[in-house]
Amino acid sequence: MVFDIKNIIKQVSFNTFIPFFYPMMMLPLRSWRKNAIRMCSFRPADRVIIPGVGSGYDLPYLPADVVVDGIDISEVMLGIAATKQRLNGNGQNIRLSIMDAEKLDFPANTFDKAILDLFLTCVYDPQKAFAEVVRVMKPNGEILIYDHLIRTNKWTGTLMSYMDGVMKYNFCSVIRPFDEIIEGQPVVVIKEIKGDPLGFIRGFLLRKTN
Ligand SMILES: C[S@@+](CC[C@H](N)C(=O)[O-])C[C@H]1O[C@@H](n2cnc3c(N)ncnc32)[C@H](O)[C@@H]1O
Repeated sequence: MVFDIKNIIKQVSFNTFIPFFYPMMMLPLRSWRKNAIRMCSFRPADRVIIPGVGSGYDLPYLPADVVVDGIDISEVMLGIAATKQRLNGNGQNIRLSIMDAEKLDFPANTFDKAILDLFLTCVYDPQKAFAEVVRVMKPNGEILIYDHLIRTNKWTGTLMSYMDGVMKYNFCSVIRPFDEIIEGQPVVVIKEIKGDPLGFIRGFLLRKTN
């Protein structure tokens, strides 16, 4: 159990009511999520990190020959992911652990791919969590983001950041500016796509530059 006062609403929500209605919310996004994950160029034995893996909706779309670390602060979401993996019989290369994504317990330069799906809107401090992901990525590693992040100019971005000062305690905040989250990190955006019919969700493929 990772206990942190700032995560209380998130942990209570993701351990109680969210797991019940989550499958309904995820159903219409299945093919869009799959499309986004297809942007990654997986190679055999790639090490893949999934911060905020939740109940494992990304796992069926990964090749069988990669090695996955999925981490989350919700025991219930991870338990559902583990059960789904057992039932599908394809969990041999997938390790699921309770861990705070803002303090990843992995050395630098460990992973080839990172999948951040519907996660940067949920984590308390998205800049810190993103910096942690970049730290554990190998140079040229690919980072996929599939989320409700907004593209803004500097002024509206700053306003959104102030509003997020309150929203970040909630289980989710959909007013976070993408450009502010990645600012100052050694990454380049390779590709951006629509992540749902309305473009409310976006898919971004980034590469670590050093
Ligand atoms: C909306 S769910 C997304 C789950 C999954 N990535 C998906 O696409 O379906 C967000 C997940 O992030 C997890 N989470 C929130 N803050 C976290 C943190 N600091 N460290 C790890 N996981 C966190 C929540 O427990 C939840 O399972």
